[in-house]
Amino acid sequence: MSDELRNKLKETTEFLKGKGVEKPEIGVILGSGLNDYADRMDNPLVIPYNDIPNMQAGKLSDHRGQLIYGSIAGKKVILLAGRFHYYENGDMQKTAYPARVLVALGVRRFIITNAAGCINENYSAGDLMLISDHINYSGANPLIGDNLDEFGPRFPDMTYTYNIELREALKKRAHEEGINLREGVYMMFSGPTFETPAEIRFARTAGADAVGMSTVPEAIIANHAGCEVIGISFLSNMAAGVLDQPLSGEEVTEAAKLVKRTFEKVVDMAIEI
Ligand code: HPA
Repeated sequence: MSDELRNKLKETTEFLKGKGVEKPEIGVILGSGLNDYADRMDNPLVIPYNDIPNMQAGKLSDHRGQLIYGSIAGKKVILLAGRFHYYENGDMQKTAYPARVLVALGVRRFIITNAAGCINENYSAGDLMLISDHINYSGANPLIGDNLDEFGPRFPDMTYTYNIELREALKKRAHEEGINLREGVYMMFSGPTFETPAEIRFARTAGADAVGMSTVPEAIIANHAGCEVIGISFLSNMAAGVLDQPLSGEEVTEAAKLVKRTFEKVVDMAIEI
């Protein structure tokens, strides 16, 4: 099993290197409704996932499905516009495969973004939240199976997954720019259902500030390989039962348009620091 994964990664990375993807430093994974950040890059090399060997994990919801390589703030960056969700394929290894590819290409900093439901009643829909820690409530883990020792240890420490120095630097920069950057714990449910109000009460009791269906698989893969991780949640809606109204997927994408500029600024800063 591990050799199969190694061979796949070799095939994918050799293809990308052949296309001109060289020594990327930073990987940015764009969440639901946040794909327009991809237009930020000068002279980008755009490679559709469909052209990349082993990078088709099924139908992507609300995502472009492109790997975009180029420079931002003088750093070599890969943007993943379109992520694979666990609820799309039921396979954590597939879900986290693009993160594995970034590690194999040499990426050392991951900026992982998502849209999330807001549990903390001191925060509001429309806020951006830096992830300080996570709760993996998906019931699965992308490292289940043979360990790839060349990536990292069998039992990775998760104490410092979301880099403290980078969080402090980012909060300082955001403050200087007048951006109200929240901070808190992200809890992953598998989806695709939104949570029930009882599940949200449970998540709040467990210490979660935000809830979503992504990010944790990629953060685990990055941390396993000793990479720096910055997690940014866009709080698109109050979580189920916080307000007396139903939730919808459209609400998430519509709300994202409103914070587009602030989101882009914060990601720029996360690349620059
Ligand atoms: N729950 C789970 N995932 C989400 C939500 C939510 O309320 N909003 C955006 N993604």
